[in-house]
Amino acid sequence: MQEKIDQLIEELKQKFEEVKTMQHLNDLKVAQLGKKGVITELNAAIKDIPNDQKKAYGEQVNRVRTFFNEKFTEIQKKIEEEIVNQKLQKETIDISLPGKKIKTGSKHPFNRIIEEVEDLFVSMGYDVVDGPELEDDEHCFRLLNYTVGHPARDAQDTFYIDEEYLLRTQTSASQSRVMQANKEKGPIRVICPGKTYRRDDDATHSHQFGQVEGLVIDKNISLADLKGTLEIFARKLLGEDTKVRFRPSYFPFTSPSCEVDVSCFNCGGKGCSLCKRTGWIELLGAGMVHPNVLRMGGYDPDKYTGFAFGTGLDRLAMFKYSIPDIRYMYSNDIRFLKQFDRCDVEK
Ligand code: PHE
Repeated sequence: MQEKIDQLIEELKQKFEEVKTMQHLNDLKVAQLGKKGVITELNAAIKDIPNDQKKAYGEQVNRVRTFFNEKFTEIQKKIEEEIVNQKLQKETIDISLPGKKIKTGSKHPFNRIIEEVEDLFVSMGYDVVDGPELEDDEHCFRLLNYTVGHPARDAQDTFYIDEEYLLRTQTSASQSRVMQANKEKGPIRVICPGKTYRRDDDATHSHQFGQVEGLVIDKNISLADLKGTLEIFARKLLGEDTKVRFRPSYFPFTSPSCEVDVSCFNCGGKGCSLCKRTGWIELLGAGMVHPNVLRMGGYDPDKYTGFAFGTGLDRLAMFKYSIPDIRYMYSNDIRFLKQFDRCDVEK
């Protein structure tokens, strides 16, 4: 019996040597310890062994079973380790490989310029206000001294919704709203950036564009205050060397009115294609608030004076970021927008 078991153990050693996979190992277990397994049957045969030999027989069967179980555990561990090692090898990370490029969005130049203008005026104590894009004739024109049939209305190709409502052609509409909303009729110092609409469409005009309006009303506000403010505005936004020039102009809601030019930042004033060889670029319209406008807004023009200015945001962004065509601002071309994903974009 002992020899038989020794032989069996030798055979099992051989079989274990050949085991390569978990499946093999389990098959081997079934073949030895399963219902009809070799060791199981040896064990069952104990009932036919004479009583005096039962103990020795049982010991021999236990020997092979113990051998099998120990070897089984050993090989099982080995295979499991191999599986883990293989997995680790497959999943190793090559830290020398370049990382995945994460695509981030960028701030649109329109919002970027609004933020710059807002920061500047907030630092000078202005409030930022909003106004409706769907305006009425009253706020966009009548309260701004454009009487019905006023010829200056023709200068603004307006999108009318009906007799009364229109898409605001200028953020100046917010001037009348802010004055109306100020119940105490006290001092005002606001800017109003936003979208405006006119029936226009070419490389420098879009049917939708942006403006920022400024309005200051207080006692003793003079043209000098307007000049000083706009000089700071131009220098801070376009560079300290920027020269500013005031030309007389006309707007129904300001008197006197002016247009403000800045020295061309492309050529420094020498003359180039951007400034049409003049050395100057038109930046904004401005003036002292017309007494009629103050009166219609509920202010006494004998006590209060004020100034207002309005400039195109797209133009400002185009100058600052060297954008050649206004339509880029509204076409959502990713190649254009991507150029603004660095936060420190400067001209
Ligand atoms: N609203 C005027 C325009 O669109 C600009 C302007 C604003 C002029 C404020 C004077 C004062 O042309």
